[in-house]
Amino acid sequence: MKPRITAALASPCPDNPKPLILFISSSLLLTTLFCLYNYSFSPGQQGVIVYYSLLPSSGNVGNSTGTSSKGHCNLFSGDWVPYAEGPYYTNATNCEMDDRQNCMKFGRPDTEFMKWRWKPYECGLPLFDATEFLELMRGKSMAFIGDSLARNQLQSLLCMLASVADPTIVAHAPFAKIRLWFYAEYNFTLAFYWSFHLVRSEDAEVNVNLTRMNVYLDEVDETWATQVENFNFLIISSGQWFLRPLMYYEKGKLVGCYLCKKQNITDLDVFYGYKMAFRTSFRTLLNLEKFKGITFLRTFTPSHYENGYWNEGGTCSRTRPTPKHEMKLSDYFSELHSTQVAELTAAETEARKTRGPKFRMLEVTEMMTLRPDGHPSHYGHPASANIKNPDCAHWCLPGPIDTWNEALLQMLKTEG
Ligand SMILES: *[C@@H]1O[C@H](CO)[C@@H](O)[C@H](O)[C@H]1NC(C)=O
Ligand SMILES: *[C@@H]1O[C@H](CO)[C@@H](O)[C@H](O)[C@H]1NC(C)=O
Ligand SMILES: *[C@@H]1O[C@H](CO)[C@@H](O)[C@H](O)[C@H]1NC(C)=O
Ligand SMILES: *[C@@H]1O[C@H](CO)[C@@H](O)[C@H](O)[C@H]1NC(C)=O
Ligand SMILES: *[C@@H]1O[C@H](CO)[C@@H](O)[C@H](O)[C@H]1NC(C)=O
Repeated sequence: MKPRITAALASPCPDNPKPLILFISSSLLLTTLFCLYNYSFSPGQQGVIVYYSLLPSSGNVGNSTGTSSKGHCNLFSGDWVPYAEGPYYTNATNCEMDDRQNCMKFGRPDTEFMKWRWKPYECGLPLFDATEFLELMRGKSMAFIGDSLARNQLQSLLCMLASVADPTIVAHAPFAKIRLWFYAEYNFTLAFYWSFHLVRSEDAEVNVNLTRMNVYLDEVDETWATQVENFNFLIISSGQWFLRPLMYYEKGKLVGCYLCKKQNITDLDVFYGYKMAFRTSFRTLLNLEKFKGITFLRTFTPSHYENGYWNEGGTCSRTRPTPKHEMKLSDYFSELHSTQVAELTAAETEARKTRGPKFRMLEVTEMMTLRPDGHPSHYGHPASANIKNPDCAHWCLPGPIDTWNEALLQMLKTEG
């Protein structure tokens, strides 16, 4: 019998009232940040089958080239194929790699998960060429905006570039909200803006477990919004932090909440908050007077807890990609995905009307849905650390997440 599994619902649910500080003070506790809420999902809903729609049918969003008979290729429609050569870097490479995703360091015994490449149906996805990437970025700047998964991709990129150049760290408080690297030889600035909701948010209460957060859906997070006007490329993403209990504010007033279980407050769903946060973010970019950059939405990726949710002994112990017919994206994840895609498409349409900045999509949802083998599980910390729940939300470095930067390079090449 074929196992039928659904990419599960992941959420940060800290056991601690101050998740960010927790995150700062102990790398080993991060797994408590990526965990699951299951208020609204019964296991009975697992296995609801929906294939995600890939690219919106209109516009240039997600436009990426490659060689195919039609001269145009959707890089994100394809499948994983075996690739014996293995990864671009290892745990011995001199690059910044968070321990929690350094699966080699902590002795992940299987290596097959590093030996697959993404093969778009219509063309080939070229190997990442670090020199080519840096040449393209000469005199330019790129910022990653988002949560720990945005950092996951950024670190993948830092490691993929490590064979060619070492950046100078310009702003280096390891857990600061803003971090900057500079590749002097290429005059290339790389930045990371830690902004997990993209809009302003804060803890709603102190000293309780599973802290609710206040999210100001119409107020962009200034951590990034005040910084990016002169950037050439932005890679923006957000996900798991919307899946926890949230109090939604607009115009400074409480308009509803998600999972707050308060009778006198309007129940609004997760999609509402997700939609509004992206809308506010994209509008901010559309309205930034000097901003002429290209914004890439890196789409949502699911976690893969099997045989139980994160806190019910769920695991991710697979060692190879799952064939498409065995792995489906849940309705829930599918709707998160379509919600963000709809906002990006709307922004792109608006931008075209007003000759505003460009919007593109790094459509990684499908490819990563097929990679339950790509997560750190228990190989993001020493075996001796007493961490009960596996991490089935982040991605091992090296691992399938490196594909995101392979695709990013191909898309950048088409932008001229
Ligand atoms: C993709 O972009 C290229 C270059 O800008 C353009 O020639 C091509 O028509 C676009 N394809 C689609 C499907 O939009
Ligand atoms: C790198 O990974 C190998 C294999 O898992 C391990 O034996 C070694 O200790 C690791 N080295 C470092 C520096 O992390
Ligand atoms: C480096 O790039 C910046 C733009 O990011 C540009 O203003 C500056 O002139 C460049 N410097 C050199 C030395 O090329
Ligand atoms: C939070 O959880 C911990 C461990 O599960 C428990 O010991 C503590 O009493 C809880 N605190 C509150 C305020 O509920
Ligand atoms: C909801 O009810 C609680 C307790 O009855 C009260 O403290 C709170 O202010 C109310 N909230 C709103 C938004 O009316």
